[in-house]
Amino acid sequence: MRKRCLVVTGGGDCSGLNAAIRAIVKRASKENDWEVIGSKDAFNGILREPMEVVDLDNSVVAGIHIRGGTILGTTNKGGPFAWAVQDKNGIWKEEDRSAEMLRKLEFLNVQAVINIGGDGSQRISEQLYKMGCNIIGVPKTIDNDLGATDTTFGFPTAVEIATEAVDKLVTTAESHNRIIILEVMGRDAGWIALHSAVAGGAEICLIPEIPYDINKIIERINKRIHNLRGFVNIVISEGAKPLNGSQQYNGDNEFGHHDKKLGGAGNRLMHELQSAGIKTDIRVTTLGYLQRGGKPIAYDRILATQFGVKAFEMVLDKEFGKMVALKSGKIIAVPIEEAIKKYNYVDLNSDLVQTARNIDISFGD
Ligand code: F6P
Repeated sequence: MRKRCLVVTGGGDCSGLNAAIRAIVKRASKENDWEVIGSKDAFNGILREPMEVVDLDNSVVAGIHIRGGTILGTTNKGGPFAWAVQDKNGIWKEEDRSAEMLRKLEFLNVQAVINIGGDGSQRISEQLYKMGCNIIGVPKTIDNDLGATDTTFGFPTAVEIATEAVDKLVTTAESHNRIIILEVMGRDAGWIALHSAVAGGAEICLIPEIPYDINKIIERINKRIHNLRGFVNIVISEGAKPLNGSQQYNGDNEFGHHDKKLGGAGNRLMHELQSAGIKTDIRVTTLGYLQRGGKPIAYDRILATQFGVKAFEMVLDKEFGKMVALKSGKIIAVPIEEAIKKYNYVDLNSDLVQTARNIDISFGD
């Protein structure tokens, strides 16, 4: 009987997931004693009755590297340690089904698991590893907030999409003499805002790492707008907050979703500017899920392919409890523990932040 490697994609989707799945399958197909299967919607496919597991071979993954999303489906709610169940009164509760899941993996003859996911998914990987699961992590996220790797796939495509949005908003802001605020994703790390603001040439970039002072933003606006003539482009992370303020939430999330739903940072900023007396017309665009969908750019396809191949080679080398990472151009293995210990915030002393300041981008500080 051939050994089985289970692949799952967990957390919010991003570009490059399919390229990583394809690379794992293609690399595994060179080994006669291995086959690859996938669980639907992260580990949910294993936990459901009946199980939802699919065979992954070269014919299934052919050509998927250019497609957005994930052919396996994903979820950023629940998981084996926090499975949502309704009690007899209809109240939702979380149940730990991890031990049962490991028994199911044994039944399926799964000898190794590759978990493609961000911070939350790799925390699940670490917990499963500690329970004896032969697991390997592959980092992905548009937020680029995972430690121990120089970057994650999904992020470069999201930056490309956000930059294209800035480019478009610059021309309309200029035509109408407006202030246009673009709200991009980035819960606690402002990577997408920083990169797209520099690439697109925004005047103001507001990120979660630097609480903003509205007066500094107004100063920067007044440098460009006189007698309502001139325009300003602002890129703001969804997780940005004013000095002494908090993040802007947009209603409650579904049960089992541990992160609160962010949204509205751009609109809040518009109201703050209007209350502070800015008379120029202000418009807000929220980019939202466009950042997660669509074709991965070439860089993401390549990185995801390298990560996928390395992940399967780590299976062969039994490097369990480790995550694939990019470090100074090399694809290496790092302990998952290390990746989840250090959150990858924007380094405020980094060259890129300095570059941004040197070309007069204001961070509102
Ligand atoms: O983690 C990526 C991310 O895109 C965050 O920036 C965002 O806050 C979150 O996912 C939203 O995810 P969802 O609405 O799918 O729960």
